[in-house]
Amino acid sequence: MTVLFINGSPRLHGNTVALGERFLQDIPHDTVNLAEHQLNFVHDQRDTNQPQQDLTDDYEQLMATFAQADDIVLGTPVYWYGMTGQLKVFMDRWFDSYTNDFDFSHKHVYLLVVGADEPQTKALGITQAVQHSCEWLKMSFEGTATVTADGPDDVRNMSDMPSSFWQLGGRLRANENA
Ligand SMILES: Cc1cc2nc3c(=O)[nH]c(=O)nc-3n(C[C@H](O)[C@H](O)[C@H](O)COP(=O)(O)O)c2cc1C
Repeated sequence: MTVLFINGSPRLHGNTVALGERFLQDIPHDTVNLAEHQLNFVHDQRDTNQPQQDLTDDYEQLMATFAQADDIVLGTPVYWYGMTGQLKVFMDRWFDSYTNDFDFSHKHVYLLVVGADEPQTKALGITQAVQHSCEWLKMSFEGTATVTADGPDDVRNMSDMPSSFWQLGGRLRANENA
C-alpha cells in the first residue's frame, strides 16, 4: 500500500508537518507540501466551451502522485475556523479531475487538523467539508485527528497525543494490513 501525506500548512516545519510525521511514524510514505507548488484557483468551465482543465500549474503533476496512493493523509492547520487556502484550492481543483474521469474510488482519506482555539469544536467544518467531498468522489473517509497547538514546535514536543490520533492511526494500520 502506498501512503501520501499532503501538508496544507505553509509552515514546512510546523505543527501539521510534525503531526503528519508522528502519525506516519514507521510507515513508509511520500510527502507533498502544497505551499511548495504552484496551484491556480479552479475555473468553473461548465458554461463555456473550454475544457475543465488547467495545464499551466503543478496540479496534474500532483495528481499523478495522488493517483499512486491508496491512503491519503490530508493535514491542515485551522485558518479562520476552516482549512488553509492551500488545501482548499487543491481540493477545489479535484473538480477538474472528477470532470475528466479521474478514479478517486477505493482511496482511504485521513484528516489531521491542528488549531490553537478549541479546534475539536470550533473547526468541525473542516471535517464536514472533507467528509462530504470524499463521499461525493467515492473515497472512503476514515476520520479526523484533531490536536490543539500553536507554536511551531508544540506538536513535536507533546508527550502524548489525543485519543482521536491513536484511533485514526489504528484505522490506517488496519487498512495497511488488510
Ligand atoms: C492566518 C491564520 C489564521 C488562524 N486561524 C485560526 C483559527 O481560526 N482557529 C484556530 O484554532 N487557530 C488558528 N490559527 C492558529 C493555527 O491554526 C496554529 O498556529 C497551528 O498550530 C498552525 O499550524 P502549523 O504550524 O502547521 O502551520 C491561525 C493561524 C494563522 C497564521
